[in-house]
Amino acid sequence: MTVILVTGGSGQVGHELVARHWPAGVEIIAPSRAELDLTDLSATKAFLADRKVDAVINPAAYTAVDKAETEVAAAFETNALVPAVLAEATRDAGVPLIHVSTDYVFDGTGSEPYEVDAPVRPLGVYGASKAAGEYAVTLGNPRSAVVRTAWVVSARRSNFVKTMLRYGQERDVMKVVADQRGAPTFAADLADALATITLRMMADKGAPTGVFHFSNDGGTTWHDFAAAIFDVAKAKGLKTPRLEPIGTTDYPTPARRPANSLLSTARITRDYGVRPRPWRDGLPQLIDDILRTAA
Ligand SMILES: NC(=O)c1ccc[n+]([C@@H]2O[C@H](COP(=O)([O-])OP(=O)(O)OC[C@H]3O[C@@H](n4cnc5c(N)ncnc54)[C@H](OP(=O)(O)O)[C@@H]3O)[C@@H](O)[C@H]2O)c1
Repeated sequence: MTVILVTGGSGQVGHELVARHWPAGVEIIAPSRAELDLTDLSATKAFLADRKVDAVINPAAYTAVDKAETEVAAAFETNALVPAVLAEATRDAGVPLIHVSTDYVFDGTGSEPYEVDAPVRPLGVYGASKAAGEYAVTLGNPRSAVVRTAWVVSARRSNFVKTMLRYGQERDVMKVVADQRGAPTFAADLADALATITLRMMADKGAPTGVFHFSNDGGTTWHDFAAAIFDVAKAKGLKTPRLEPIGTTDYPTPARRPANSLLSTARITRDYGVRPRPWRDGLPQLIDDILRTAA
């Protein structure tokens, strides 16, 4: 039996990792925060020493981007110290660590999709804490992969698609930011990509390591993403609002967001054969899942 530890199993990405179909012979262990608070670093070390695992996938994170601006220590604890401990423990055990990171490590001033080796320059505390986690992982365990993603959506927790569907029922007009670009990512598709990397890294000590990017295919803006969500919702007979484009400056938030969050997925395709499908293809199914989960 091959054992994989998945952290953050109650989160968007963690849930899909736990729920997906793994090959026969793979056992997933996914302790809840109540069973293992990762920021209890000695408990995390002890857990990994006790349970012999063959790989660790770490999507757990402090993800409250705006709150991080004031909760600096909490963000760095979860996003930098925890990955450092996981890297050390997995290196000592000689097993791979697959870590999830973010587009927020970039400042978003570039006009093209970011390549994996583009300079990191976070705009806020959350991005800085995730950048620190990336260094901890790549320096701490040579058999590691850092997979950056962006604009994650699923039928669980809170995310842009769920928010738009909810507000769409409540409001007649919706103002949505039209000057931030990115590509939505289905948590389930990201989970499949993480599984592909993990299974290959476990099987092959020479499998590619380092930084990868995964998001679904097709750049858009939050405004145009909302328009696509409401198109699908309308076709399903839901009430939809009138949509108005606004600028980032019209919607101030405590943490600055990158204007360009597009990630080049060329490396994950080249090294692992992962080809992200267009996000527009998966949107109707996701909306069905959200409506079913809410019913
Ligand atoms: N969401 C996005 O749009 C987005 C974009 C780019 C990158 N990412 C990255 O993608 C990854 C997954 O994001 P997500 O949207 O799935 O996050 P999420 O839904 O917020 O889930 C975070 C998970 O981490 C767990 N966690 C946090 N602190 C913990 C602790 N001290 N001990 C144990 N568990 C802890 C949470 O547990 P509880 O349920 O107990 O809180 C939850 O299961 C993260 O690394 C994030 O930085 C996300």
